[in-house]
Amino acid sequence: MIGRREFIRNSVAGAGYVWLSRVAPFAATAAGADDSRIEVLLAEPLGIISPNIYGHFTENLGGVIYDGVWVGEKSKVPNVNGIRKELVEEMRKIKAPVIRYPGGCFADSYDWRDGIGPAEKRPRRTNFWAQEETAAGPANHKYDPNQFGTNEFIQFCKLIGSQPYLAANVRSLPAAEFYRWVEYCNSPAGSTTPADRRAAAGYADPFGVRFWGVGNESWGCGGNFTAQEYAVEFRRYTAWVPRYGQPLSFIASGPNDDKWDWTRGFLEEIVRKGPGELRSIWGLALHYYAWNLSRGRTRDWVEGKGDALKFETVDWYELLRQGDVMESLINGHWQVMGEFDLEHSVKLVVDEWGPWYRPGSEATPGDILEQTPTLRDAVFSGLTLDTFNRHPEKVAMANCAQLINCLNSLYLAHEDKFCVTPVGQVFAMYAAHQGGQALRTIFSAPAVNYERDGKAASFWGLSGSASLHDKELVLTVVNPHVSATREAKIGIRGASLKSGIATTLTNSDIHAHNTFDQREVVSPKTKALDLQRGDLAYSFAPASVTKLTLSLE
Ligand code: AHR
Repeated sequence: MIGRREFIRNSVAGAGYVWLSRVAPFAATAAGADDSRIEVLLAEPLGIISPNIYGHFTENLGGVIYDGVWVGEKSKVPNVNGIRKELVEEMRKIKAPVIRYPGGCFADSYDWRDGIGPAEKRPRRTNFWAQEETAAGPANHKYDPNQFGTNEFIQFCKLIGSQPYLAANVRSLPAAEFYRWVEYCNSPAGSTTPADRRAAAGYADPFGVRFWGVGNESWGCGGNFTAQEYAVEFRRYTAWVPRYGQPLSFIASGPNDDKWDWTRGFLEEIVRKGPGELRSIWGLALHYYAWNLSRGRTRDWVEGKGDALKFETVDWYELLRQGDVMESLINGHWQVMGEFDLEHSVKLVVDEWGPWYRPGSEATPGDILEQTPTLRDAVFSGLTLDTFNRHPEKVAMANCAQLINCLNSLYLAHEDKFCVTPVGQVFAMYAAHQGGQALRTIFSAPAVNYERDGKAASFWGLSGSASLHDKELVLTVVNPHVSATREAKIGIRGASLKSGIATTLTNSDIHAHNTFDQREVVSPKTKALDLQRGDLAYSFAPASVTKLTLSLE
C-alpha cells in the first residue's frame, strides 16, 4: 500500500425580523416549497474573516510556474515582464491576498541563491519533482532554469497586490541561508551585500516579506523528522532571524489531516523550553487533501483516488463528504493546540487544501499533478471556504493547492490559451467575504439521502456562511443535492432589507467544466432580488453555490 508520504518520498440586529425570498430562475427541480430555513444572527459575531483565508499556492511543480505563471519576457503570450498578463488581471479581480511559493515539497530542495542575479547566469537544477515527469513534459519542468526566482515572484505579488509567503528550506540548507534569504528580501537599500545585489537587479527598496514558512511537510518530504525533532529545528531556524523593522510571521510545518500526534508532539517540544517559545510561532500549517474516493475500500494513495471528470452521483457526494472533514480537522487541531497554547496565540494556516484526483484529466498533456476542475470542485471549494469563514478566530490563512495548472486550480493555461475554472469562479464570488465580520448562521434543511454501496447514506441539505460589511450582508450557500432545488426562508434577525443581488454558480450537468475552447460553460449568473413581496423565500438551485449580497437598513 502506498501512502501520500511514501508517494512523495518515492518521487523524491435593529428593526425586527426579515424573511427574504424569491424564486430563483436557475432552479431545475422543486424539492418541495419552503422546506428549509437559514437564520443569520447579526448579534452573534464570530470574528473578522482574514482576507488571507482566500490565499493561493504556487509551487515550482509541473506547469504551475513555467507556462502557468511565467511565460518569459520574449514570449508572444501577453505578459508583464515575463509574467502571464491574463493571470495577473484575473487575480486582481479576486483580490488575491497572499501567495505561497516556491513549495510544497520543492521548497525543501530549493536554494534561493540559484534564483537571483542576472537571468542568463542562473544555474539549471534538477527539479524536486523530476522523477514524476514524463517525456510529454517540457524540459523546464524537469530541469529548473531558475528564470523565475525571488525577484520575479515578488514582482508577481506586487502586480496583483498580494503579500508574498516564502517557504524556506529546512531539509537541505542550513539556518544561515534562511537568515540570508530574509536579509536579501528585507534589509534596507545599501545596508548589506544582499541588499546591493537586490538593487543591482532593479529592486532597491526592500521587499518587506512578512510571512515565512519554516520548511514544508517536515514529517515527510521536508526532512522526514519526528514532531519533536522538527520542533528543535524550528526553534533553531527562528532564533535571531534579522528583522530590519519588518515584523516576521513564522509558519511552522504542521500536521497532515488528522495527525493529532504531530500537533501535540511539536507543541509539547516547543514549550519544553518555556511557554514564551510559543511567541515565535505565528501559524501552524495544516495540509488536507480530499483524495480517497474509494468509500472505505482502500487507503492506498494511488488506488484510492477517483477521476476528475468521470464520476457517478455517489462520487459527487463522496468528495463533498471528504471536504466536510475540514471542519473537524480545524476543531480537532485547535483543541490540541489549546493544551499548550492556553491563550490560542498560534493560529491555523491551512496552506494546502483541495481535491486530488488520479492523473488523466490534464488540460495540457504532460503537466504532472494537473487536473480539470468541474462543478463538483466548485461546490467543494465553496463548502471549504464557508468552513474557514465559520472559524475566523482559528484560521488565519489558507492557500488553495494550487493556483494554476495543478490540483484544485483557479486557472488553466498553456501557451496563449487560458481559462478560469469553476473553482476560480467560486473565489471570485467569495472575495466579498474578505475582511467582513463573520456571523453565526443556522442552516436547517432536510438531509440529502442517497445510496452508497447498497446502503442508505445522507449528507447535509444546505450549508454556508455569512459576513457583515458595514450595512452589507454577504451570505454564501451550498446546495449539494445533485438534482433537487432547495427552497429556504432566510431570516435576518435585527434588520430590514433594502435591496439584494443573487449570484449563482451551477449547471445542469454535475460534470460541467471550462476548457480553453469553451471558457464559459460554468460561469456565475447574477440577478437582482425582488424584495417587494415581504415574507419571502429563496430557491437554491441543485448542485450550486450561491451568494446573496444584501443591503440592510
Ligand atoms: O501540492 C502538491 C504537494 O502536496 C506539495 O508539494 C506537498 O507539500 C504536498 O504533499
